[in-house]
Amino acid sequence: MARPLFQALPGTRDLLPPDTDRMRELVSRFAERAITAGFGLVVPPMFEDIGVFVRLGEASDVVSKELYDFEDKGGRHIALRPEQTASVCRIYAEARPTTPWKAWYAGPNFRYDKPQAGRYRQFDQVGAEVIGSHDPDVDVELIALAARFFRDIGLTRVRLLLNSLGDGADRPRYLDALRAHFESDVGALSEQSRLTLAKNPLRVLDSKRPQDLELVASAPVIVDYLSDDAGAAFERVQAGLTVLGVEFELAPRLVRGLDYYTRTTFEFAADGLESAQNAVGGGGRYDGLIADLGGPPDPGVGFALGVDRTLLACDAESAFSGPDTRIEVWIVATTGGFEATELADELRAHGIRTDRSFDGRSMKAQMKGADRSGASLALIVGADEAAAGMVSIRSLREQGAQQSLVPRSDLVTKVKEMLER
Ligand code: HAM
Repeated sequence: MARPLFQALPGTRDLLPPDTDRMRELVSRFAERAITAGFGLVVPPMFEDIGVFVRLGEASDVVSKELYDFEDKGGRHIALRPEQTASVCRIYAEARPTTPWKAWYAGPNFRYDKPQAGRYRQFDQVGAEVIGSHDPDVDVELIALAARFFRDIGLTRVRLLLNSLGDGADRPRYLDALRAHFESDVGALSEQSRLTLAKNPLRVLDSKRPQDLELVASAPVIVDYLSDDAGAAFERVQAGLTVLGVEFELAPRLVRGLDYYTRTTFEFAADGLESAQNAVGGGGRYDGLIADLGGPPDPGVGFALGVDRTLLACDAESAFSGPDTRIEVWIVATTGGFEATELADELRAHGIRTDRSFDGRSMKAQMKGADRSGASLALIVGADEAAAGMVSIRSLREQGAQQSLVPRSDLVTKVKEMLER
């Protein structure tokens, strides 16, 4: 076959059935959970003024290297969203809903990342945010929502990593200690980490470069620098998770890829995936982000789960096969009349997955279509059946099954009965 003129760009994928069916089902399971917990769906635009995203942290790769930005025809500097938390905060600052405001979302995000398995330039997330409450019980509710969702879809090898990044006064004290630690042996750090150190010492903890590992491992940990308030909140989060039986591991060096976090931060790591791309979700508090965006000084907390990676983790665990969307009934009509059109309409109205051939195919070609569709039943209408107001039903699952003749008026009942067998 000739190579097509265009192919999907690097880092993008065309999703087709059955992958799309699985993805739709995954999002719908998440939606059910979020709605059951009082969250309402928000749909932020896919692009915003670049300023909305710059607040995610100029020291983060997401902002400094990976933004898809451009000037639109009106001369505005625009960026495709790399995530949706900043947009949710911008919406909150604009719409000022009553608090606590609980919002969930689903949809694609864009990052000019190095494409590899589990890392794409367009990827989907589902997520949830709560704005307007300092209560650490909100953090517990959100973390439990995500943990229960993973369990619900059948993943058993997902670990919850938990940390607190402190806030207010604790952060500068910790950053000073961290800076002093790395500067004490700065020559041992990789060149990239030396550059990162100048911008945000916290992010050096995130380095996976072998050269940096020793200094990172001996770095001071933030929990030793937490204020009484932040420490008590972190204790409360841990106690709440324990009450709910949500298992977690303390990860004192967990820093996230975005700069807006304060206090609780967490990540879900799937052990079935390669370690560089094993984060199937993450989140935390961002008590200063809304004010940074020019809104009120209201706190927020939330998470996003990577849909693509979650499905890869499901593959690795042979979990979550997705819904059965196969055609149940195939209609074969050879009269040239409207039998196939009418029958398909009637069966579909009863929720029976039904399809048919077009283009006046021969009986043989239509039966082939029936086989290919995976249908359980074929309905056959030839000239004799049409004249007698009958339809023949043939099971395609049982070898050598007899064909039965059914009056049109009994057809739906009979089809349902046979499908249930
Ligand atoms: P994030 O850690 O950047 O956080 O992304 C969340 C999840 O999205 C990751 O754990 C991963 O599963 C998936 N993901 C990220 N980048 C890619 C990529 N290039 N390809 C495939 N999957 C990817 C956030 O986005 C924050 N907004 C989470 C949050 C919500 N924090 C507070 N509220």
